[in-house]
Amino acid sequence: MKLLYAVCHLLSLAPWLVCCVPPIWTQPEQVHLSYPGVPGSMEVTWTTFNSTNSTVEYGLLGARLFDTSVQGMSTLFVDSGDEKRAMYIHRVVLSGLKPASTYVYHCGSDEGWSEVFYFTALNDSLLFSPKFALYGDLGNENPQSLARLQKETQRGMYDVILHIGDFAYDMHEDNGRIGDEFMRQIQAIAAYVPYMTCPGNHEATYNFSNYRNRFSMPGQTEGLWYSWNLGTVHFISVSTEVYFYLEFGLDLLFRQFAWLKQDLEEANRPENRAARPWVVTMGHRPMYCSDDDQDDCTRFDSYVRLGRNDTRPPAPGLEDLFYHYGVDLELWAHEHTYERLWPVYKDKVYNGSTEHPYVNPKAPVHIITGSAGCRERTDRFNPHPKDWSAFRSTDYGYTRMQAVNATHLYLEQVSDDQDGKVIDSIWLLKDKHGPSAWL
Ligand SMILES: [Fe+2]
Repeated sequence: MKLLYAVCHLLSLAPWLVCCVPPIWTQPEQVHLSYPGVPGSMEVTWTTFNSTNSTVEYGLLGARLFDTSVQGMSTLFVDSGDEKRAMYIHRVVLSGLKPASTYVYHCGSDEGWSEVFYFTALNDSLLFSPKFALYGDLGNENPQSLARLQKETQRGMYDVILHIGDFAYDMHEDNGRIGDEFMRQIQAIAAYVPYMTCPGNHEATYNFSNYRNRFSMPGQTEGLWYSWNLGTVHFISVSTEVYFYLEFGLDLLFRQFAWLKQDLEEANRPENRAARPWVVTMGHRPMYCSDDDQDDCTRFDSYVRLGRNDTRPPAPGLEDLFYHYGVDLELWAHEHTYERLWPVYKDKVYNGSTEHPYVNPKAPVHIITGSAGCRERTDRFNPHPKDWSAFRSTDYGYTRMQAVNATHLYLEQVSDDQDGKVIDSIWLLKDKHGPSAWL
């Protein structure tokens, strides 16, 4: 038997024996951008499968190509699958960029350079009206909205993309090769605009290691939670998964909650809220939804909304916290549908008025946008939604948002099934922000 194993093992090595040496993988791939949160900065992240230097060469569009060179660092990421595949994740932060200027760049080393890409440095002015595309639940297989998003991003329609959890389905599968291919798929978006993320349940395997290693979000929490500012908006990204994967540490839930409280306190200091009146959150699993499944958001006692009583100590939920600090807009995914809610708190509708529900609403507004496209297809709705459900669609698609100024924020839903048709839109108008706006 032992002999048989030895023969099989030798046969499996046959290609290596013939070629003598394995291939060298120093060519950069999976290039993507993120915003480190400091005005005038941008972070470039990419992958190689052998160790190389980490360099970005860049310059202003129209000027001499690549007149500036910056070094960064790489980290070794070993996927926890059977093959223990190793890859190097390279990170370089560019700083001192001129706001609203377009830069041309490539990344790599003298052992291999990427294609040439470009990006526009984020404008740090409070008068900036940034445009976003946002969605969750985009996979390697059946990524129906991907081509439209690639085209629109390269046409310059967006300043930032928000991916609200659930990537690739799943990044760890096939020993991380699904993650590699997904990161190659989104390169046509994410190499051109910052791709800001939060973790979803599909990232949980091996304690979210593929998510934490492949993305580069600000805040030194490996992207689990963080906040950043753009134009008149203070963005907060959270991990709803801390309410579900207690095996990775209940302390994560409490640490995130304490951080959130501190961050919201800071965002509500009068001078901060005056400069950035909009407070927008994003997290993967919604606290409300009207889908026909047994997910957390279909339950009145949603963990995300109300917390958990089965932990010691009991874990607080997010609804009261967000309400008490006057969060204006809450972006979610996970349900493979689109749903817009009326302003809601404690399961009750708090419209601004009957005629103008989104003008000076008396509670946060929720959008659930998890229908970008993945192998699990779309979900079904419960035929009897609650009063807070304002509009819903099972079309594949994504959401666009523009934070126009201190009082006006626009949202619209694109149906990919209907060739890019806008099937829903609202203007959220607020003369006043913060907890006093609810009175
Ligand atoms: Fe999910």
